[in-house]
Amino acid sequence: MFATLAKLAYQTLQKGKGAFSLAHKDMSLRLLKTMAPDTLAKTLPLAPGTIKALHGAMDALLERDWQDGEDGIYPTELLFSGPWKDWAVRYPLLWLDHPATWDRLRRRDFRDLPKTINRQHYPDYYLQNFHNQTDGYLSDHSAALYDLQVEILFNGAADPMRRRLLRPLKHTLPRLGTGRNPSRPLRILDLATGTGRTMHQLWAAFPRSQLVGCDLSEAYLRQAGRWLAERPGGELPQLVQANVEAVPFVDSWFDAITCVFLLHELPRPARANCMKEAFRLLKPGGVLAVLDSIQPKDSPQFKVLSENFRRVYHEPFYGDYMADTIENHLDQAGFELVLSETHFLSRLWLARRPP
Ligand SMILES: C[S@@+](CC[C@H](N)C(=O)[O-])C[C@H]1O[C@@H](n2cnc3c(N)ncnc32)[C@H](O)[C@@H]1O
Repeated sequence: MFATLAKLAYQTLQKGKGAFSLAHKDMSLRLLKTMAPDTLAKTLPLAPGTIKALHGAMDALLERDWQDGEDGIYPTELLFSGPWKDWAVRYPLLWLDHPATWDRLRRRDFRDLPKTINRQHYPDYYLQNFHNQTDGYLSDHSAALYDLQVEILFNGAADPMRRRLLRPLKHTLPRLGTGRNPSRPLRILDLATGTGRTMHQLWAAFPRSQLVGCDLSEAYLRQAGRWLAERPGGELPQLVQANVEAVPFVDSWFDAITCVFLLHELPRPARANCMKEAFRLLKPGGVLAVLDSIQPKDSPQFKVLSENFRRVYHEPFYGDYMADTIENHLDQAGFELVLSETHFLSRLWLARRPP
C-alpha cells in the first residue's frame, strides 16, 4: 500500500515536472516569436510518431528509475529530492534572462563572456555560450540557472537519466579487481561535475565513498558545494577546479569515474583526451561510466529531434558528437566496454580498465 502510494506520488511529481516544462517551453517560444522573431532557428518537422515514441521512452525511464529505488540501488527519497526552494525562487530569472539571450542571438555572438575572467585559464573551445547560456559557464548567474534549464530541457527527466549509471556501478564495483581492502572507502571521481547533480546521486547510492568532483567552472563548483553541503551527515566531497584533460591526481587513484553530459560539449581531440585521462586516473580493474546524449545510430527515431536541438541551442560540437563513435575512444584509451544502453534521451557506456 505504502509503496503504491509512493510510486503514485513519484509519477505525479514527474508528470507535473513534465507539464510545467512543456508549458514553459511553449510560452518561451511564443514570446520569442513576438519579441525576437528574427532569432528563431529553422527546425525540421518531426516525423509522425516521434512524440509517441518520446512518451514511451520517458515512461520506460521513469519505471526503471522507480524500480531501481525499490530494489535498493538508492533510497527512494532520492527520487523526490531537488533544490526545490532555490528553483522556485530562481525561476523568474529565466524569464528575465531572455532579452540578453535574444540580443546575443541577433549579434550571432556566441563568445559573450564576463569581461572579468582570465581567458588564459581555459581552453579556447570552452570559451563559448554553450546552449545560449548567458556568461557561458563562467558566472554565478549561469550556475544559479543551469539546473533549472536542464530540468526544463529534458521535461523533468535530467536526474532520472543521470541515475541510470548507478545500477551498473553498484553491480560492478563490489566485483572490481582493484585489490581494494574493503575497509577503504571507494574513491569516485565525477568529471565535469557542474553543479554536482551526479555527485548528489552518487552520494545517495554510495554513502561511504570518497567523492571528488572536478570542473573548469569555479562558479559551478561553488554552487555544487553549496548544495552538497546541505546534505545531512557524510563527508563533503572534494571539489577541484580542473580541465578533464589533465586532472591533478596521481595515476590509478580512483575505483570509479563518472562523466555526465560532457562529451557532446568537447571537440573530438578533447573527447579522446578525456577518455585517456580517465584511464590514467583509474585503478586497473576500475570502471568508467559515461552518460551523454543519444546518438542517431542507436536512436534513429530521434535523429530529427537531436538535429533540432543542435539548431536551436548553441552546441558547437554536437554535430561532431552525433557522428562520433564513443566505443572507439574507449577502446583507444585502453578500456574494455562492459555495456552500453539507451535511456530516454541519454546513452550510457560502462567500461573497465583491464586488471
Ligand atoms: C552540460 S554541463 C554537465 C554538468 C554535469 N555533469 C551535469 O550532469 O549537469 C557541462 C559541464 O562540463 C564542464 N566542462 C566543459 N568542458 C570542460 C573541461 N574541458 N574540463 C572540465 N570541465 C569542463 C562545464 O563547466 C560544465 O559544468
